[in-house]
Amino acid sequence: MCGIVGYSSTSNSIELSEFVSMIKSLDYRGYDSWGFTFKDADQLKTEKQLGKIETPNQQGSATFVIGHTRWATHGKVTKDNTHPHTSNSNKISLVHNGIIENHQELRNKLKDNGFNFYGETDTEVIPNLIEFHLRTSESVLEAFKKTLDELKGTFAITFLHDKSKKIFFARRDSPLTIGVDKDSLIVSSDVTSFIDRTKKVIYLEDGDYGYINSEIKIFNKEKEVHREISEIDWDVSKAKKGDFKHFMLKEISEQVDTVKQALIQDSKLIEKITNELKSSEVYIVACGSSYNAAKAAEGEFLKNGLIPRIIHAHEFEQYEKFLSEKSTIIAISQSGETLDLINAVKIAKTREAKINAIVNVQGSSLTRLSDNNIFMNVGPEICVLSTKSYTAQVAILMLLASSLINKPNESKQEIEEIVRHIYYLTSESARKHTKELSQILRYSNHIFTIGRGRDYATAMEAALKIKEVSYIHAEGFAGGEIKHGPIAMIEHGTPCIVFVPNKNNQDILSNAQELKSRGAFIIGISEKKDETFDYWIKVLGPDKFSPILRIIPIQALSYYLAIMKGLDPDKPRNLAKSVTVK
Ligand code: AGP
Ligand code: GLU
Repeated sequence: MCGIVGYSSTSNSIELSEFVSMIKSLDYRGYDSWGFTFKDADQLKTEKQLGKIETPNQQGSATFVIGHTRWATHGKVTKDNTHPHTSNSNKISLVHNGIIENHQELRNKLKDNGFNFYGETDTEVIPNLIEFHLRTSESVLEAFKKTLDELKGTFAITFLHDKSKKIFFARRDSPLTIGVDKDSLIVSSDVTSFIDRTKKVIYLEDGDYGYINSEIKIFNKEKEVHREISEIDWDVSKAKKGDFKHFMLKEISEQVDTVKQALIQDSKLIEKITNELKSSEVYIVACGSSYNAAKAAEGEFLKNGLIPRIIHAHEFEQYEKFLSEKSTIIAISQSGETLDLINAVKIAKTREAKINAIVNVQGSSLTRLSDNNIFMNVGPEICVLSTKSYTAQVAILMLLASSLINKPNESKQEIEEIVRHIYYLTSESARKHTKELSQILRYSNHIFTIGRGRDYATAMEAALKIKEVSYIHAEGFAGGEIKHGPIAMIEHGTPCIVFVPNKNNQDILSNAQELKSRGAFIIGISEKKDETFDYWIKVLGPDKFSPILRIIPIQALSYYLAIMKGLDPDKPRNLAKSVTVK
């Protein structure tokens, strides 16, 4: 995951503190430690820090700077393992996002050639390998190319060479973009680091490498290539917190609009995809909340005559032999960069399956691999937790499901109607109620969530939200499953959140009763109060949209649990927004 950024200008230097704020804007990608290297004449100067990104100790400005915010994969969170990593003779300073799979082999080879290592990261082999190849190369670019040929794994890399007025870069399976400003060029994992400066962007392709100085040189398979400059159509203010204390709360509140925006789609595209779905075997692949969104819509697809196979992207490989040109994939991803998903899509492509993406980030790797892209239109989601992107995904899947029975407008009209319920659920008075519940639950060690049918998916998503931001152990179950094992965990006072539909609710209420008989503290999420409930959160609206409506109070509950516990809801420990490693 990690965020990398490199600033290059032959005429305009950047204040180091300003450069550090560019790194900071990528900290949703990882926030274990951070660092940067700048060129001072022919010297490379590096600063590394652990923890939150603050003002740098180094003052001044520079025309060539690279920086990094880390999400550790190899080696503990220590200063030695913090990027940038420097080659033995301090000629090369490099930042990396991804994993070098053959790092041990390369480390041994370099040691045999007299190189020493100070840390444990896989990354550290790269600057040394470049330095090694420099001995027999005519240019830095040539040494870099030789290095790239030896690396196995995934990466986005940028580096500085002490004597070159250039920033070198390469990408393979990890995202990398170039921001094109009037008098500077910025290579970065994501556009968020430069959107304040320029909206002109080049999305690099897999296998691209090259350098920036006053110009951009891109190569692929040894040939120089040209990549189009696109315009980012985001409103910069959407990536700012505004009056909200945290992005999480802002993004929860935005759902009043985003659920509707998600349904503003090109009707021809929806019709085309629906026709494909009707005439092929359908696989929905995703991870985390995006997977839960697919499960939430499964019932609607089944009702309308389609059996989608919903598979975690990282498990998809097992299905390879069943794929053909008669298969249609729906790949769901907020970031469009989740490596597990990208790999699943690549597998499907080799079998000639059609790829449809439901994706938020324009220009992301997924959008470039897909035959069709349905954009979520929710604007940037900065908090590590999916909130508005989750409900948008569910809304789009519902749109596809209703299109199957030629009623694409059905879900649009219905969503219009449920917006007033979302408005209430995100209002301050509704949040006050969930805040009160968070006070009751803040010292809990476990929280169980249950639902049946579409609410089973809501229970899964609810448990994911609670655990990732509050670190309270939360698990979601199908209501019918608890008696097959999980009920053994219930003790006096164990909190259990029960999602209860308006109709056909007898079975889930019986499950709630079974839990209550063992001493559970029952929190009911429903339209009507039931005597089983020890605490009740009222959620109005039709059952069909319960995956959208009933998750909202739990998003808010998770937020308040984090706040009560003094945690940062936007950046939970050990997580990153864009999961670009396997
Ligand atoms: C959930 O809140 C997220 N932290 C995580 O599970 C996320 O949904 C998952 O990593 C998939 O991300 P994507 O939608 O960007 O592919
Ligand atoms: N493997 C590198 C490290 O652990 C980069 C990690 C990443 O990009 O997620 O430092």
